[in-house]
Amino acid sequence: MAVSIKSAREIQLMREAGKILCEVHNQLEDFVKPGISTLEIDQYGEKLIRKYNCIPSFLNYEGYPASICVSVNDEVVHGIPTKQRILKDGDIVSLDAGVIYEGYHSDAARTHLIGKCSLEAQRLVEVTKQSFFEGIKYAKEGNRLFDISNAIADYVESYGYGIVQDLVGHGVGRKLHEDPQIPNYRQSRRGMRLKAGMTLAIEPMINAGGYEVVWLDDDWTVVTEDGSLSAHYENTVLITEGEPEILSLVE
Ligand code: MF3
Ligand code: CO
Repeated sequence: MAVSIKSAREIQLMREAGKILCEVHNQLEDFVKPGISTLEIDQYGEKLIRKYNCIPSFLNYEGYPASICVSVNDEVVHGIPTKQRILKDGDIVSLDAGVIYEGYHSDAARTHLIGKCSLEAQRLVEVTKQSFFEGIKYAKEGNRLFDISNAIADYVESYGYGIVQDLVGHGVGRKLHEDPQIPNYRQSRRGMRLKAGMTLAIEPMINAGGYEVVWLDDDWTVVTEDGSLSAHYENTVLITEGEPEILSLVE
């Protein structure tokens, strides 16, 4: 497993890619509301990405047909936007996006509450986001990769939620998916040593019910097997000798 260490120049480009992606997500957050279609979200997101002179990382990636993955309620990830799917009050919607800036990718996801959601939905979304922050407490040089995984897993399991196992986080940089793979569930080993200059997409995918997921016939959309709600939160993170730098989350 060859994990790339980014140079100062590459880090600067990834910082820019992350900042742009953060801006795209902030504008998408303001855009999502009851009555809009998942296709409109994709079209607006693509327009924003291109406005910043970036390329949508996901468009045509292994044949994926859109720029933004839009996953509603029991859809875990990789939902395909359509004009028929209209957001309604009480839905939760996960938006996953990536941008390429000067040849470097950033990758991030947020889950939004649409209108007035159940307390159960609110809690799932909050715990999923917080699990990312629990994980990155360990994201620094000298610690090990699965310290991150285990911190996420311990936190999520304390709420009794299901942790998706069939999809994992990953290195990110010149390619959208680089080594290493980053599970969100408990590992018995501590994994490889983290080094300054690694750039990682850490992305817990958490189900209100069981951890099991299935793929729909479109070959993309992943849904919970038991029909329970699912949330996703992701950022591109730079490992340093001290605190991690969350490249896709900036003021
Ligand atoms: N964040 C997702 C991932 O890391 C994005 C990939 S979606 C795809 O797998 F459509 F591009 F495949
Ligand atoms: Co990712």
